[in-house]
Amino acid sequence: MTEENGGKVTKNKSRKNKFKNPDWKEKQKLKGEHIKEILVEKLKKNEQKVDKKKEILQKKKSKKALKKEKLKKKIDNGEKPAKTPQKKPEIVQEKQPDKESESEEQDTSSSNPFAALEDNEEVVDLKVENPARARRRALKEKLETQLKAAEFRFINEQLYRSDDKSCKKILSGDAAKIYHEGFAKQVEKWPINPVNLIIEYIAKKLPKNHIIVDMGCGEAKLSSSLKHKVHSFDLVKHNERVIACDVRKTPLETNEVDAVVFCLALMAERVDDFIKEANRILKTGGKLFIAEVKSRLENEKKFKKALGAYGFTMVSENDSNTHFTLLVLKKFRDIDQKTKLPALNFRACQYKKR
Ligand SMILES: C[S@@+](CC[C@H](N)C(=O)[O-])C[C@H]1O[C@@H](n2cnc3c(N)ncnc32)[C@H](O)[C@@H]1O
Repeated sequence: MTEENGGKVTKNKSRKNKFKNPDWKEKQKLKGEHIKEILVEKLKKNEQKVDKKKEILQKKKSKKALKKEKLKKKIDNGEKPAKTPQKKPEIVQEKQPDKESESEEQDTSSSNPFAALEDNEEVVDLKVENPARARRRALKEKLETQLKAAEFRFINEQLYRSDDKSCKKILSGDAAKIYHEGFAKQVEKWPINPVNLIIEYIAKKLPKNHIIVDMGCGEAKLSSSLKHKVHSFDLVKHNERVIACDVRKTPLETNEVDAVVFCLALMAERVDDFIKEANRILKTGGKLFIAEVKSRLENEKKFKKALGAYGFTMVSENDSNTHFTLLVLKKFRDIDQKTKLPALNFRACQYKKR
């Protein structure tokens, strides 16, 4: 026998002795009992949980039955069965489950955390499918949309016909909000928003140290999109970037800025004062951007020629889309603000009478 084998024999002997030891046996017994106690405790808790779940499920079932009963009554009272032939039998004919299937249902729903949600969904679906109510809601929404559109057209027409004294009053109260929402909805439908075209042009072609003025800026998109310094002016202070003023008279110094933008903002029938102000604040060599609805220009050739008298010469013209024209001009000289100049006439934006 080797020494190793000898070691094994000694180990086995000490184990046998351990089993004979009464203390050790007692300890093992106690341990076993303790584990048993823990297991019994856990079992009890699990049983309690299952009971609770069953109770909740029962409550939900009775609520569901109540809702169904109410709906059934409503439909019986308010609906003509001929108009909703498919829906009604579905609700009325739903059988109360027998005991076996009930216990089956309990099992499935207790393992399904969305059971309560599904119950509610069924009720909501039935409500939506009430055709009379759906028709009323659709009609109400349509009328509200039409009313908002009519209000926008009214304010818009008034603005185009306004002068420096009346324009602020037109946008007072909630008119500014109605006007702005209406304008945003309209431009959304256009293939291109002119403001995006102007942003692209300035970002690509004008040095970053150039100062830009956004006349009639609305929500001041130029200022939020460009890295340049932008002064944003509008009759209404839509947000903190906007300075409220009439763009015919801005608070800027003479020959202070490098570019002036009128994006759909020449809102008058005579725009002489708007263009004069642009000439005053622009440095010689500065750019003037005019984006305007095509139908507003009475005589485009005459208009462009008249701009020469206001100190501007044409740089480029983008006429590639159906809705607006974008003119880029350059100031070549200062004009005497008091000199009589040719009238710059625009048509007011008019809408078909409905
Ligand atoms: C059609 S929106 C265009 C807004 C913006 N330029 C754009 O393209 O998104 C015309 C804006 O010009 C403003 N506006 C009209 N006449 C103005 C005036 N005399 N002085 C300042 N803002 C004026 C209106 O309040 C309105 O916000």
